[in-house]
Amino acid sequence: MSKITVVGAGNVGATCANVCAHKELATEVVLLDIKEGVAEGKSLDMWQTAAVNMYNTKTVGSTNDYTKTAGSDVVVITSGLPRKPGMSRDDLIATNAGIVKSVTENVIKHSPDAIIIVVSNPLDVMTYCAYLTAQKASNKVMGMAGILDTARYKAFLADETGVSVKDIQALLLGGHGDTMVPLPRFTNVGGVPVTDLVSEEKLNAIVERTKKGGGELVNLMGTSAWYAPGAAAAQMVEAIVRDQKRIFPVCAWLTGEFGLKDVYLGVPCVLGKEGIEKIIELNLTADEQALLEESAVAVKDVMSVLTKMNAEAEA
Ligand code: NAI
Ligand code: 2OP
Repeated sequence: MSKITVVGAGNVGATCANVCAHKELATEVVLLDIKEGVAEGKSLDMWQTAAVNMYNTKTVGSTNDYTKTAGSDVVVITSGLPRKPGMSRDDLIATNAGIVKSVTENVIKHSPDAIIIVVSNPLDVMTYCAYLTAQKASNKVMGMAGILDTARYKAFLADETGVSVKDIQALLLGGHGDTMVPLPRFTNVGGVPVTDLVSEEKLNAIVERTKKGGGELVNLMGTSAWYAPGAAAAQMVEAIVRDQKRIFPVCAWLTGEFGLKDVYLGVPCVLGKEGIEKIIELNLTADEQALLEESAVAVKDVMSVLTKMNAEAEA
């Protein structure tokens, strides 16, 4: 059985650790945070649900002591500030880049072979930051956003069509931001093309709501979401530790796929014990390709902010 570490014992990290434990994805799940006692307290609380919910995975907390994370197979990085109303994900870059960099250094020191899943925002650029810091093969460093964005899209479609969310298949590409690219052409309800069941006007409204799905929740709660993000990250962990070969939209480093390179972007990937085992290329229409390229430009703009910050720090 595996060992999993979740860094950041806040809303998303604690939820992710809890789902990993409930699913018995590892012998041990280590939850780490810089706030004194918080990770220990949440881990102990989770461990005390094991007898109620009948699982064996032990949850262990740590206040910034990375020796406890040693030998982890998968590490999920959720440490960093969440959005507040009026903030974009990109507003978080300066603070979260510093956090993700130092966390990744510590993670790699104690778990050199770990596969890293980044959740901190701005997602695509924080994944790039972890990749630069970890100096690992790009299939071992990835970001979580596409499963969440697709789950939101599926939830809205289930509400609209009145059918089980289990029967909705969908695909969403691009960065985790307003330029994400939901693909109605690759969306079906129980095998029936969604365009046969939902009017163009309603579908467009659902696509727009999906793109702003994170902001909708920030406005309702005053901070960003955690149940679906935590569960989505745990689903990636599950695919890796159980070597499931599941196909999910994952934030992956592109080296020419979809005609794009040197950018982290959400694309369909096969996830298994090696991490990203394959990136699946699609035959996109010219319109879909243009939207994906627009999304890549938006991510590269924020990547250049990180590059500039790194250059200034080194000067
Ligand atoms: P939160 O504020 O509840 O938790 C963040 C935790 O990180 C805090 O407990 C904090 O003490 C900890 N932390 C800060 N610096 C640290 C360090 N150097 N080492 C260890 N821990 C540290 O925030 P929440 O809601 O859990 O969100 C976490 C991040 O995930 C945010 O950046 C948020 O924007 C992002 N997010 C990304 C999503 C995605 O789809 N990729 C979805 C939802 C949130
Ligand atoms: C979300 O999409 C804010 O990235 C966060 O919920």
